[in-house]
Amino acid sequence: MLKLHNKEFKPFISTKEIETVIQEMVNEISQDLGDEVPVFVGILNGSFMFTSDFVKKYPKPCEVTFIKLASYEGVKSTEDIQRLIGLTQDLTGRSVIILEDIIDTGNTLAEVHRIFKNENVKQLKIATLFYKPDAYKKDFKIHYVGIKIPNKFIVGYGLDYDGLGRNLPEIYQIKETQFMTNLVLFGPPGAGKGTQAEFLKEKYNLVHISTGDVFRFNIKNETALGMLAKSYIDKGELVPDQVTIDMLEAEVEKNSSANGFIFDGFPRTNAQAEALDKLMESKDSSINAMIALEVEDEILVKRLVERGKTSGRADDADEAIIRNRITEYYKKTAVLKDYYSAQNKYYGVDGVGSIEEITKRLSAVIDKL
Ligand code: IMP
Ligand code: MG
Repeated sequence: MLKLHNKEFKPFISTKEIETVIQEMVNEISQDLGDEVPVFVGILNGSFMFTSDFVKKYPKPCEVTFIKLASYEGVKSTEDIQRLIGLTQDLTGRSVIILEDIIDTGNTLAEVHRIFKNENVKQLKIATLFYKPDAYKKDFKIHYVGIKIPNKFIVGYGLDYDGLGRNLPEIYQIKETQFMTNLVLFGPPGAGKGTQAEFLKEKYNLVHISTGDVFRFNIKNETALGMLAKSYIDKGELVPDQVTIDMLEAEVEKNSSANGFIFDGFPRTNAQAEALDKLMESKDSSINAMIALEVEDEILVKRLVERGKTSGRADDADEAIIRNRITEYYKKTAVLKDYYSAQNKYYGVDGVGSIEEITKRLSAVIDKL
């Protein structure tokens, strides 16, 4: 992981990959140019490393020069391109190859074309090491592309974030979901999970994802995933983990600007916990903690019997059923306690006391994450 100013970046493209790609570009371009002695024009500042490594590999005589343009502020492209150093030599009749580190919106490229419009060059070709097709808004042909990348900010290998990162020999990509707090909330039936989730979600501006609710929502709204899940449920089969994970992923994506998530009712198995880790990783995030509300069995039984008197829930009515649910809970979640303990992410919290007291205990854990 890499931190520049206030942003975090993760490794994206290695030095080795860059080298391989540049060699391929050199091969292609030198073949196309034949015996022509080209003028390579690097666009400063970003392309100093690319230009240097490119021309070192170039197998035949060539000239190298630079122009200096600037358009970026922080991590956002601006329309306004400044020409800081223009062309300093006559290029009439020459084959000019522009060497760009990256083409994003194409604004810089438009300025390059303006610069060369009246230069009477024999040919003008554009070569870029990195290209963001989803950001590109122009029609200019890009003749040689090293690597197509997603529309996410990168640094390294000449590219900077507010001045920093140009010196890094490899490429890093910005982390999308920075500084999220993601919790897995656990507790036996009657521990007060639902009540506490409501408080935590308010206090920390988190999105509460209860798998039960997500299932009901998808089935009720007949989403593709909902119908798929229903087809298993109707046959009396368990819904495969992947279907559940896909539903959770959709929820996470719907709320991608959230401060974090409270997962409730998921994971229930080791395989699911691993799948959830993978999902969070694909979002540049992770589960920060599994918090389990701990309440003694006898107190749970008492609470649930009380609740059964008013809730009308059949599974709250019978003490034997209640005890069985509690036993089942511990049997099933023991593996998860181990899973998260192994990552130092398990936090047991005393779930006996007033609602405010318990919220305070939970907050104490979250504030330290
Ligand atoms: P364009 O004018 O939008 O095509 O952007 C080109 C210039 O913006 C590049 O030469 C870089 O200086 C800068 N730029 C675009 N994308 C990135 C990025 O992901 N990281 C760092 N600089 C970038
Ligand atoms: Mg540039």
